[in-house]
Amino acid sequence: MRKPFIAANWKMNKTSQETEEFIRSFVPLVKDITDVDILLAPSFISIESASRLLTSSDVLLGAQNVYHEESGAFTGEIAPDMLLAAGCSHVIIGHSERREYFSETDDVVNKKIKLARSKGLDIILCIGESLEQRESNRTFDVLNGQLSGSLADLSLDGITIAYEPIWAIGTGKTATDEQANETHAFIREWLGKNKKNADSVRIQYGGSVKPENIEGLMSQSEIDGALVGGASLKPDSFAKIVTGASGK
Ligand code: PGA
Repeated sequence: MRKPFIAANWKMNKTSQETEEFIRSFVPLVKDITDVDILLAPSFISIESASRLLTSSDVLLGAQNVYHEESGAFTGEIAPDMLLAAGCSHVIIGHSERREYFSETDDVVNKKIKLARSKGLDIILCIGESLEQRESNRTFDVLNGQLSGSLADLSLDGITIAYEPIWAIGTGKTATDEQANETHAFIREWLGKNKKNADSVRIQYGGSVKPENIEGLMSQSEIDGALVGGASLKPDSFAKIVTGASGK
């Protein structure tokens, strides 16, 4: 019903040349997989070369961030129109690293989604709790706050949610399949209560996803894909994750 969606978030890794090398090896490895949407999110500076190499492939291209103004005196920022012109169809918004190191609030995330959606970009909206929040039983409160703030006055058109528990990102610790599914079910219920068409929204899991754990995660009813950091940096590892998500 919901097509699996596997996305690579390369964070601050790979030059343009390394991006091209990755794409040349990766695309042939996944060319026969048609039942999974696949997306690469390289750094801004590699997007144009990635786009040229991906023109004859079904692999989608996204950015890791965007600014919430159309143009103007915002030194160092990138506007939605620039991403579209460079070949992006998607943008990741609200990653926990942006929230933590660049002080992005739900309000900023909301502004970014609004502008990017109005321009036609699809969104991967990241949400997730810290270890301290989980241990003090505040996970659902935190997610409730992030969802209401980030999605205020927005429909779910063109939105994918990535649930990424912060304690599982880059740590090697994954939420158990059941833990992740329980949280995804909470998110789905929240979407159902507050928005239209909640059943069609894909909810990805993120946090130390690798070839060894993708099948268990994908076997859960509410997990529709993954946002993958570290294990997406090597073509064979990322291709194995895509293959593991195929057939759901
Ligand atoms: P990780 O990162 O797979 O390296 O844990 C995931 C993410 O931050 O999107």
